[in-house]
Amino acid sequence: MKAGVAICLGIAAFLLIGVIVLIVVSLKTLQSDEMAVMYNTISRELYQDVKQEGLHNGPPGFEFITFPSVYRTIQYPYLSCLNKDGVIITLDIAFQYQIQARDLRNIVLQFRDHDNFEKVLTSTGESAIHEACSKYNTTEFQAARQDFQASVREALSARYQYLSTNIDDLQVNNIARPAAYEQAVRSKEAARENIQVAESERPRLVTQAETVLKEAETSAIITTNRAESDARIALNRAEAEAKAIYNQYETEAQTYLQIMQEQNLSTAGFLAYMGVRTIGLAKNPVYAGVDAPAKTSYIANP
Ligand SMILES: *[C@@H]1O[C@H](CO)[C@@H](O)[C@H](O)[C@H]1NC(C)=O
Ligand SMILES: *[C@@H]1O[C@H](CO)[C@@H](O)[C@H](O)[C@H]1NC(C)=O
Repeated sequence: MKAGVAICLGIAAFLLIGVIVLIVVSLKTLQSDEMAVMYNTISRELYQDVKQEGLHNGPPGFEFITFPSVYRTIQYPYLSCLNKDGVIITLDIAFQYQIQARDLRNIVLQFRDHDNFEKVLTSTGESAIHEACSKYNTTEFQAARQDFQASVREALSARYQYLSTNIDDLQVNNIARPAAYEQAVRSKEAARENIQVAESERPRLVTQAETVLKEAETSAIITTNRAESDARIALNRAEAEAKAIYNQYETEAQTYLQIMQEQNLSTAGFLAYMGVRTIGLAKNPVYAGVDAPAKTSYIANP
């Protein structure tokens, strides 16, 4: 009797433990940022409804195939793409996506779980960015950044629509052109600036050159004037000197003529007179080769 009670109690305890275990394996929680579809691992059945946050019960041995119910970010920190000109552009792009809950079962059927699905989203996103990238040339990447961002968004939305995923925000954080291209652009800018500087300097240099020319012309005129003036002075002085010498000889001639007339001298007589005067005036003895008889003949009236 006692043994029968003990066996009954044992069975009851065993059943109770079994029930507790069953309850435990039939209850699962979802976090506030999760949604999921139920999968029965025993019957291999995928259930229809999508469960949101909370405690859920299901058949024993079920599993949740969990996806994020909130926006998640996909980032491409160094994505290289070829633009319309064939120049390699390095982009830093990020965007936020949200999976549409109503299509979650389909997504699970196609892509199994979130890890797989995110890989597909990432590569689809990349191809959308490549498509947008190829529509813009290098100049437009700088000038029409907003347009480029809109194009990426458009291409992404078009593709994600077939993956039952919404795009919320898109950030184009950086657009980098190849270093060599940047260098070339900078050189071109520098050259353009130099040309501008040269052009703005040109009037000043022309003015400077004109000033120098004017100075040279003025200086030439001054030099010519001075030379002419000097020449005139020299000529005047020469003329004055010539006149003075002429006057001196003229006066002398007048004097001699007067002497000749006063003294009633002939030319020969006057020459004899001059000879005597010259020798008489000399301080030192003069040995003139003049013959004495000849001397007398100079004198008209001895
Ligand atoms: C880039 O495209 C714009 C508009 O399509 C065009 O005006 C510009 O000349 C292009 N630039 C180059 C370098 O091809
Ligand atoms: C001057 O000399 C000439 C001849 O030599 C003579 O005929 C004349 O009379 C003289 N006159 C006087 C004023 O002495």
